[in-house]
Amino acid sequence: MGTACYVKGADKVIAAVQAQAKIKSGETTPDNKVSLLTARCIGACGIAPAVVYDGTVTPRATPESAVEQIKKWM
Ligand code: FES
Repeated sequence: MGTACYVKGADKVIAAVQAQAKIKSGETTPDNKVSLLTARCIGACGIAPAVVYDGTVTPRATPESAVEQIKKWM
């Protein structure tokens, strides 16, 4: 949620994850398969918006790519 990621659509990525997983930031799905956390900046601003999936930094996230990842976990 830092500036670089935010201006490149991080809010839309988070909204898509929240809608798909039916959780808010800081929550975990009832089946414990997905947790959603946000950070101010992970130091990867050059590849914004950056997302970390199970410890792996992923560049240039889109709402669509995030939803695809969530579908794999659920
Ligand atoms: S603002 Fe997203 S990694 Fe820095």
